[in-house]
Amino acid sequence: MVNISIAIESIASDETICQIDSTMKLNDTSSVLAFLKSRKSASAKAMTGSGPSKAEIDEILEIAVRVPDHGKLAPWRFILIEGAGRARIGGGFADIWAKKYPSYSPENLDFQRGLFMRAPVILVVVSTAAAHGKIPVWEQQLSSAAVCYNAVLATVALGFDAQWQSDWVAYDEGAKAVMGVHAHETISGIIYMGTSSVDLEDRPRPDVSALLTRINS
Ligand SMILES: Cc1cc2nc3c(=O)[nH]c(=O)nc-3n(C[C@H](O)[C@H](O)[C@H](O)COP(=O)(O)O)c2cc1C
Repeated sequence: MVNISIAIESIASDETICQIDSTMKLNDTSSVLAFLKSRKSASAKAMTGSGPSKAEIDEILEIAVRVPDHGKLAPWRFILIEGAGRARIGGGFADIWAKKYPSYSPENLDFQRGLFMRAPVILVVVSTAAAHGKIPVWEQQLSSAAVCYNAVLATVALGFDAQWQSDWVAYDEGAKAVMGVHAHETISGIIYMGTSSVDLEDRPRPDVSALLTRINS
């Protein structure tokens, strides 16, 4: 993991936002609480360093599925993309992009082609939520979001960096097919895993007191 430096910003104008704590070590794994309080995503734009090994990916997936799941339906599945698979899939994205947006610049097309080259390991979390007699689809999708978050936490806890993304490829039927996602499925997250080549910077966090309604009588 990279050395952490934290940008000191003051956001006095918005009362629902907390000022950044400049003394906080990000992704501090010294205790469970310290980790949860300091968790920080990296940016897929700068995640070129090494990613989790096969054994570590297995561990990440084991942790990822340890989520609340109403009805124990396990309404999710994974697609792992690494190595040459990243370029092959990026080529498919570029083909779709070129057809959809022929007026875009060659640089933009190259960006779409290189989308998955930005990190060594890409985990696609697919929601397989379907109508069920008792469990609403929404609850199944929420469980899938929890899977994404657990995958991010596990990756970072193992000493790597991660970012949960969606991007246009999560919503385009052609791009979904390129990744092996069926039309009746939805992508909950595309998790980029690697090592950030830049120091992480925190961002202002919401002021919880402005979000909380207490009911005690
Ligand atoms: C469902 C979902 C989709 C997201 N998609 C993107 C995305 O496409 N691009 C992006 O830069 N951040 C995306 N984010 C935000 C990042 O995961 C992350 O929250 C952000 O980089 C800020 O870092 P933080 O998690 O430390 O606050 C998404 C988050 C969620 C929950």
